[in-house]
Amino acid sequence: MKIALVGYGKMGKMIESLAHEYGGEVVLRLDEFNNADQVMMTPEHFADVDVAIEFTTPHTAVGNILKLAELGVPTVVGTTGWLDELPRVEAFVQEKAGTLVWSPNFSIGVNLFFAAVKQLSARMEDFPEYGAWAWEIHHSAKKDAPSGTLKMAVEQMRRGGYTREVSESSNRAGAVPGTHEIGFDTAADTITLRHTARSREGFARGALKAAQWVKGKTGVYEFGEILFG
Ligand SMILES: NC(=O)c1ccc[n+]([C@@H]2O[C@H](COP(=O)([O-])OP(=O)(O)OC[C@H]3O[C@@H](n4cnc5c(N)ncnc54)[C@H](OP(=O)(O)O)[C@@H]3O)[C@@H](O)[C@H]2O)c1
Repeated sequence: MKIALVGYGKMGKMIESLAHEYGGEVVLRLDEFNNADQVMMTPEHFADVDVAIEFTTPHTAVGNILKLAELGVPTVVGTTGWLDELPRVEAFVQEKAGTLVWSPNFSIGVNLFFAAVKQLSARMEDFPEYGAWAWEIHHSAKKDAPSGTLKMAVEQMRRGGYTREVSESSNRAGAVPGTHEIGFDTAADTITLRHTARSREGFARGALKAAQWVKGKTGVYEFGEILFG
């Protein structure tokens, strides 16, 4: 599996360090300096590439995904902060008969957390005495807030059928790789579901699993669909 890393920051480097465990070889590394105005995104540079893994910035991700779809390169995108544009991106990728796997969070544990949030939220709709919150904390360099993962966790509450207000908040401090919490509270008790990432390794492994999976596929998929069918 020949991989192009579009975005060679903390995530790109972590993916590179683990790629060999997934039969992957990184053949191209693009960052802000060598890829200004997408100069490196040409058919020649991508001729040998089987899959692109995109972890860049909220500002650049959409342009990169559209360009990769034009080039016919299956893409795994982990960048957050652009998902408001998903409908437009999805339509473009479908039109090009391309392949895209996206997720605000590629860790297996967070996707299990999402499943638990959805299930508990479905029950909570019948108990109006509970109020709900959604909270996350990340390192101080993270550009978007609230995180894409927190938005997805609240979306899981909605998919579970929870219609009441959810109080959302975010913190940015230090080097935290990412902690997400959903809580329900009454006068009698508190229930919390919390996922704590210990490092970026879990995100990188999930992205590499998705990169293996795209071979021979077309369409647009959220990572959870791949994991749980
Ligand atoms: N889905 C998940 O599981 C998951 C997990 C962790 C992080 N994330 C998200 O992934 C994104 C990247 O995170 P990170 O921690 O790796 O950030 P980072 O260390 O800041 O890396 C971002 C990289 O993108 C590069 N870049 C900027 N514009 C580019 C362009 N036009 N073409 C190619 N590369 C470009 C930057 O280049 P320079 O180094 O030259 O500036 C940098 O290397 C963020 O949105 C973050 O929230 C998602």
